[in-house]
Amino acid sequence: STATVKLNTGATIPLLGLGTWRSTEEEAYNAVLSAIKDGYRHIDSAAIYGNEAPVGRAIRDSGVPREELFVTTKLWGTQHRDPKFALQESLKRLGLDYVDLYLMHWPVALKTANIKDGNYLTFPIAPNGKRDVDLDDWNFIKTWELLQELPATGKTKAVGVSNFSVNNLKDLLASPTTKVVPAANQVELHPYLPQEELVKFCEGKGIVIEAYSPLGSNGSPLLKDPVVIKIAEKYGVEPAQVLINWGLKRGYVILPKSVTPSRIASNFKVFELSDEDFEKINNISKENGIKRFVDPDWEGFETFV
Ligand code: A2P
Repeated sequence: STATVKLNTGATIPLLGLGTWRSTEEEAYNAVLSAIKDGYRHIDSAAIYGNEAPVGRAIRDSGVPREELFVTTKLWGTQHRDPKFALQESLKRLGLDYVDLYLMHWPVALKTANIKDGNYLTFPIAPNGKRDVDLDDWNFIKTWELLQELPATGKTKAVGVSNFSVNNLKDLLASPTTKVVPAANQVELHPYLPQEELVKFCEGKGIVIEAYSPLGSNGSPLLKDPVVIKIAEKYGVEPAQVLINWGLKRGYVILPKSVTPSRIASNFKVFELSDEDFEKINNISKENGIKRFVDPDWEGFETFV
């Protein structure tokens, strides 16, 4: 799909983008090149994915002018106190002059393990086995206060958040220090986790929703769901395409990850899901309950509510 929507900055964002979480360096390079060749114009990356360098190299090698591409990267928890520096480091790894969107990856600051080595991405584990949260006089509202200044530097065109709940967003928007409404909120979103309240809330505030793990991530049962399979057979498409086109019909950005060229190509193909089949997919979680694949508890974010 080459469809786009507008961010609250006025910039255009392609609805379909390539996700790169868990792609190795070589996989990420080949996947991004392959995706751009197939017509993708939106690539989603993050500092913690460890593949900004190959993602950026593929973008530069693609031959497509930079201004025709939409590139996102994300601020990791260990760098909440200095997003400006973190963005500079990301741009250095990407080999790009700017990104289109810079997101706060999680609403939680983490303690930094190896700041002396310049390795800001490693983090200590607390005695409870979770990532060590930085609660010393810090919170995501302070991070946002710094992040919102970055578009003025020209190093990112827009700023947004990721993994923010309705409560997190309400707290952020209520703060007198918040001058900029996030352009986007990137969250886990698929038929087992439709996030109806969050989607509606963001729509009301002009915050573009972006769906990560739209296929349910690694080894997903979503791709084996009998309702999804039946609809895929009816249209002669892959189950993944059903999930992607359900998201597109809901009207938000969707970021399927693949490192397989044939899947990268088929994931980009649009077909018209009937209202009836759309409803059938909406009903899956109503009948079977919701299921989250990315575990916020494992991520160590107790305050994610
Ligand atoms: P691979 O990258 O090996 O092609 P999500 O986007 O929800 O995180 O899901 C990513 C997972 O889904 C990856 O394991 C990816 O495998 C797999 N995947 C991506 N596209 C398809 C597809 N069209 N059919 C089946 N599996 C897919």
